[in-house]
Amino acid sequence: MLVTSAGQWAPGNMLHLVVALLLVPALPGAARVSYEPTWESLDSRPIPDWFDEVKFGIFIHWGVFSVPSFGSEWFWWYWQGCKSDPYINFMSKNYPPDFRYEDFGPLFTAEFYNPQQWASILKESGAKYVVLTSKHHEGFTLWGSKFSWNWNSLDVGSKRDLVGELANAIRENTDLHFGLYHSLFEWFNPLFLTDKNNDFQTSYFPNSKSMPELYEIVMKYRPEILWSDGDGDAPCTYWNTTGFLAWLYNESPVKDIVVTNDRWGSGCICKHGGYYTCSDRYNPGHLLPHKWENCMTIDKRSWGYRRNALISELLTIEELIQELVETVSCGGNLLMNIGPTHDGRIPVVFEERLKQMGTWLQVNGEAIYSTKPWRAQNDSVTPGVWYTCRPQERSLYALFLNWPTNWKITLGEPRSWRGMTEVQLVGCQEKLKWLPIGEKGMIVSLPRLSPAQMAVRWGWALKITHLKEVVQAAGPQTKFDFL
Ligand SMILES: *[C@@H]1O[C@H](CO)[C@@H](O)[C@H](O)[C@H]1NC(C)=O
Ligand SMILES: *[C@@H]1O[C@H](CO)[C@@H](O)[C@H](O)[C@H]1NC(C)=O
Repeated sequence: MLVTSAGQWAPGNMLHLVVALLLVPALPGAARVSYEPTWESLDSRPIPDWFDEVKFGIFIHWGVFSVPSFGSEWFWWYWQGCKSDPYINFMSKNYPPDFRYEDFGPLFTAEFYNPQQWASILKESGAKYVVLTSKHHEGFTLWGSKFSWNWNSLDVGSKRDLVGELANAIRENTDLHFGLYHSLFEWFNPLFLTDKNNDFQTSYFPNSKSMPELYEIVMKYRPEILWSDGDGDAPCTYWNTTGFLAWLYNESPVKDIVVTNDRWGSGCICKHGGYYTCSDRYNPGHLLPHKWENCMTIDKRSWGYRRNALISELLTIEELIQELVETVSCGGNLLMNIGPTHDGRIPVVFEERLKQMGTWLQVNGEAIYSTKPWRAQNDSVTPGVWYTCRPQERSLYALFLNWPTNWKITLGEPRSWRGMTEVQLVGCQEKLKWLPIGEKGMIVSLPRLSPAQMAVRWGWALKITHLKEVVQAAGPQTKFDFL
């Protein structure tokens, strides 16, 4: 039974801390916590520290849906599930009348798939983790699963282990953490539909497909993130996800490092599991008392590659930087999605956005990576100013997304010391002039931009040191620092 509640040390809890420290040496072997298959026990597992430090990851939606690459990755469902007109028309215009979704499988050829090249593109983006769809709701596995007969990438189409090749390339060439997305349910799997007809009182599908697959990908690829999705409106008791997670946390080869999300059965999202995703494109604009992630897409309308996307439907680099800044200030991680093509290319427009993120982070990364949320997330006077901090170094960062026309920026929150507090624009050496306003707040005069700054004019960060206080926001994922 686990006794710590994920490190919420307030000064009043100091006594508990002291007691806990005294107890540890007296109980050899107690360090190995064992989790039970209950949410109470599983939810008490602290999220491994690396996840809060990395802040930025890339999501990759790739599958058979990348072949029609029309509408969205839900193509099969829109076409034959809810029979939506644009999809029916697309099929009747472009394919023979007896063409089935299964016939797209052999066309998922991946002939240009170069995992080393993907790894270097991902690394250049400044992202520190990647999450690949190992299987989406269509049920096609991107590895040679024993449990997905004739509907997997090793037997059909590319005849390659798409998951394994990326895992190896990432691990050999980068320091990114490798993660896998996995859909519990499958739209049209007959076993799932049988269970559903039985009001999920039978578990034929989880026992013969989803769960064996999950054990298989963990043992085979040792993912550091398991990004579960698609509960099919069935409860976690049907999926036996608590049983799986207890094994994952207690016994699996990734038990000490693996991070999970919150999509493990209906009613589970934003409540149970590892970090919270709450909804797609979740960006609450305020601090949450639990580690969370904003998973979102460069293409506003689709996770999978879409040949009919318009440039106006893609987020601009300014919008992407804003998303990153807001998310990190509020304690979240950003998981930004790209959709590769059926033949294995990362479309160059996505590659360009990734490179831009990377060049921006090269200059401004110190205001993002390994930072903590500050006591205020955004400024009370100037809209569009977001804060992060490094409590150990007593540094505060004020990130801003619009350059003020008078080259002066008003910050309503920092408490400065006259003659002591120092302000710099991250990426420039110069110490900036500033004036205090009232009891808290300051007006900072901005400098001429350095050449490095000129190249990434999508957002800036002021670094402010020697303040009266840099107290990070308290929360279960932010161990409290006494300053
Ligand atoms: C649930 O998973 C655990 C761990 O793998 C297993 O021991 C247990 O038998 C499973 N329960 C059911 C009902 O399948
Ligand atoms: C920013 O802060 C103010 C309070 O100072 C708050 O009312 C507002 O909702 C915050 N969020 C955004 C997105 O501006």
